[in-house]
Amino acid sequence: MATVSPVAALPKIKHTQCFIGGRWVDSLSGKTFETVNPATEEVIATVAEGDAADVDVAAKAARDAFESGEWRKMSARERGRLLYRLADLIEENQEYLAALESLDNGKPIRDSRAADLPLTIQCLRYYAGYADKIHGYTIPIDGNFLCYTRKVPTGVVGQIIPWNFPMLMTAWKWGPALTAGCTIVMKPAEQTPLTCLAMAALAQEAGFPDGVINVVPGFGPTAGAAVVRHPLIDKIAFTGEHRTAQIIMRDASETLKRLTFELGGKSPNIVFDDCDLDAAVDGAHFGLYFNQGQCCCAGSRLFVHEAIHDKFVDRLVAKNQVRRLGNPLDPATEQGPQVDQAQYDKIMSFVDKGKSEGARCLTGGERFGDRGFFVQPTLFEGVTDQMSIASDEIFGPVLSVLKFRDMNDLIRRANNTMYGLAAAVWTRDIKKAHYVAEQVRAGTVWVNCYNVFDAAAPFGGFKMSGSGRELGEDGLKPYLETKTVTMSLG
Ligand code: NAI
Ligand code: MG
Repeated sequence: MATVSPVAALPKIKHTQCFIGGRWVDSLSGKTFETVNPATEEVIATVAEGDAADVDVAAKAARDAFESGEWRKMSARERGRLLYRLADLIEENQEYLAALESLDNGKPIRDSRAADLPLTIQCLRYYAGYADKIHGYTIPIDGNFLCYTRKVPTGVVGQIIPWNFPMLMTAWKWGPALTAGCTIVMKPAEQTPLTCLAMAALAQEAGFPDGVINVVPGFGPTAGAAVVRHPLIDKIAFTGEHRTAQIIMRDASETLKRLTFELGGKSPNIVFDDCDLDAAVDGAHFGLYFNQGQCCCAGSRLFVHEAIHDKFVDRLVAKNQVRRLGNPLDPATEQGPQVDQAQYDKIMSFVDKGKSEGARCLTGGERFGDRGFFVQPTLFEGVTDQMSIASDEIFGPVLSVLKFRDMNDLIRRANNTMYGLAAAVWTRDIKKAHYVAEQVRAGTVWVNCYNVFDAAAPFGGFKMSGSGRELGEDGLKPYLETKTVTMSLG
């Protein structure tokens, strides 16, 4: 159905410098890089390119803010109040921020409005409410002693995020860190620095003291690696590719930093023949094509029971044929471009591999339009487990359909991957649902739903999909150290 809503206005770019110690500054080298609109390939703005020298200033500012001054003395409840204020300011500016996110990332504004913004606000409010509920306990030990624990902030945290959910990943990182009392050096993705910088400006307006939040835009091997190696930084929280996490683990070993990783996946989405077919078709489609397929938890291995396989595939094909690709700022658009040329090229190379390995490409497999990094929604059937499109993370709108018959064989196949981020199962049989949820090795299992996120529900991976959890109470733990105090009463 055609929509009458107008195309969103181009947002004004307000912040392109580094944010360090409460000040907006150019990079010390004076270098800048371009951030590009992936729908048009035009430059949106040039942004300060931070490097080791800028990270050093930011780490010192964060250390100072952590060890002395206003933040140090602030009550936990007051920290929570600042986080609530930041959430309120984001809510007041949500239309602007949604447009900025869609401009820089290419995601449809309907998604920025319906998912990125509300989940960002929810995450900050969830952790705001935690601030005055973080406490240790008293422990009965042998002898005449009072023994108690305190939960104290981990310190200065380095946070490195990707480009697929720039604002939401900022909230997932800032929420638990700030409620715990940590201070931050953040390195946003080079493809999408703008909304993180806009959030830093709102954090300053909310009243976070100088140096508590520092943002250094720049590239991974330079600015990112400098954050990982800096001796004044205690912990790294990283979201991105597992190969980058391996480099970070090596670089962080020098200073023995605490590490949490949220990495990729090749998540099995399992459809039994007793499912609610309409719901499962919608869920399989949404589970892969949402956000142009650029989701760590994308249901990219769709296992469909052989009894419903053909009609299921027909329904998916029909959905792809009517999917609206176009200008991300148009509320009618359902799918935007991939984030950049590199991702476009990577996806197209997987499409070629899928074809040469013998899978049947039923829709897409081609560029859409003549500018921007658009990939048509692509569907492969006849995919077998050893094909690269069934084993490697594609991170694009490419769905691989695999057939199954036997449930135990299915579980073995579903788990036959180095990843373990998410899984889903569609069935009306509660026993089957429990069995799959029990057997599948993944950090999140969705039953008769997909991509259901809530700030209260922990998220993270088994195996090479990561370590540690984000969101919920589990997501707070990496930002706290336990201090045990034993006092003689003798
Ligand atoms: P990436 O892991 O290289 O980049 C993520 C972040 O890490 C960016 O901020 C980047 O600047 C930074 N980084 C890169 N190298 C670094 C280093 N040596 N030290 C410190 N920080 C560093 O991911 P990239 O290159 O953007 O995408 C490659 C593939 O990774 C994608 O095709 C996709 O398969 C996967 N990916 C997974 C994501 C997830 O949510 N799990 C998000 C983004 C990408
Ligand atoms: Mg990379």
